[in-house]
Amino acid sequence: MLDPREFIRTKRDGRAHDARDLEAFIAAYHRREIPDYLVSAWLMAAFLNGLDEAETAALTGALLHSGRTFDWTGLGRPSADKHSTGGVGDKISLVLAPLVAACGVLVPMVSGRGLGHTGGTLDKLESIPGFRTFLEPDAMRAQLDRIGVVMVGQGPDLAPADGLIYALRDVTATVERDYFIVPSIVSKKVAEGAGALVYDVKCGSGAFMKTRADAVRLAQRLNAVTRSLGRKAAARVTDMSQPLGAAVGNALEVEESVAVLKGGGPADVRALTLELGALMLSLAGAAPAAEAPRRVQEALDSGAAWERFLELVRAQGGDPAALERAGGMPAAPVVAPVTAERAGVLEAVDSFALGELVVAIGGGRRAKEDEVDPRVGLMVRRRIGDRVAAGDRLADLHLAKDDAGAVGRARACFRVGDGPAAAPELIIERVD
Ligand code: URA
Repeated sequence: MLDPREFIRTKRDGRAHDARDLEAFIAAYHRREIPDYLVSAWLMAAFLNGLDEAETAALTGALLHSGRTFDWTGLGRPSADKHSTGGVGDKISLVLAPLVAACGVLVPMVSGRGLGHTGGTLDKLESIPGFRTFLEPDAMRAQLDRIGVVMVGQGPDLAPADGLIYALRDVTATVERDYFIVPSIVSKKVAEGAGALVYDVKCGSGAFMKTRADAVRLAQRLNAVTRSLGRKAAARVTDMSQPLGAAVGNALEVEESVAVLKGGGPADVRALTLELGALMLSLAGAAPAAEAPRRVQEALDSGAAWERFLELVRAQGGDPAALERAGGMPAAPVVAPVTAERAGVLEAVDSFALGELVVAIGGGRRAKEDEVDPRVGLMVRRRIGDRVAAGDRLADLHLAKDDAGAVGRARACFRVGDGPAAAPELIIERVD
């Protein structure tokens, strides 16, 4: 029988865990034989002292084996999924999943809720009236077979120990370490049964990884651990020095995704979706690498991806009409402009602080049990490198009530200076 105090002491003193002890600790927590406070103490010790490659692999295995693993090979089509390491305004999954399904690849997407300052796909989907993010395994299989895509939460079956630890990390300041992020992501993604996994590793002020070197290392570790578990993997390190697209906040991001699916929307959201979609198609073996970009472009331009998204919403209990009707989606009662105090060039955006602000106005959680307000968020009106005049709108805040403090906090996230400032590259590095 493992003594949790001895286990915590090992990591506190900077020693490596035996793989069997790590597995036993996670299994005991999953059975709720160890309370949250002991696991929190271990998480902080490991956050500070690190886990080596063998421990990271053992943690991945322990999380993966806490639940079942799906297998979709019987459906007779290739399958693929994408996972982002988390950003601000990152709504790519909402467009990408139906797009790739429309190209004939199964997308059994299992997503999370907001983590720290970042938004989560599940919270975004739940802002669509009626949308259900939990499906029983049989219903998942039937829907995948019929329309080629499901978008669900982890549920009690899939890497459930990760679900418990993810929620604990979110509220104990123990998120930003690659040896926690890799097991968390890879265990869920391997358990969901996709044959090919594409990772979008965010890098910059709004990401957990702030530097290119850290992001590339995370990408390499995600690829390596995924391949060691028998799946194909490739990664893109992409910019998160400013929010992706304009919308940040649950319902606002759904509306922006709909705009992209209907042929418009921000150029960066379109470009990244097409890049990741083409990679999913080629990695899954559904199209040669040279042909995949054309296939995804056609599926977006022809409206096939939009049609598939409507089918998905309908299949999971959502109201597709709410997406097209004015006022169909939840909307905030107050929209407050955030203006520039001086003329100049937008040099930098503190995307982390913007994400935290959206949490603070109700768009995310501070405690595990908090409710999320789907209406609130912001629309960013200027990109890094843009010239602005004094009084120009940098963003619009969508609020549940008047809040001058929130407007001031938002303004402080935009640094306007004398410039020059170059627009950041969207795709920073391809890690295949
Ligand atoms: N996404 C996850 O699923 N887990 C993490 O730890 C970070 C991002």
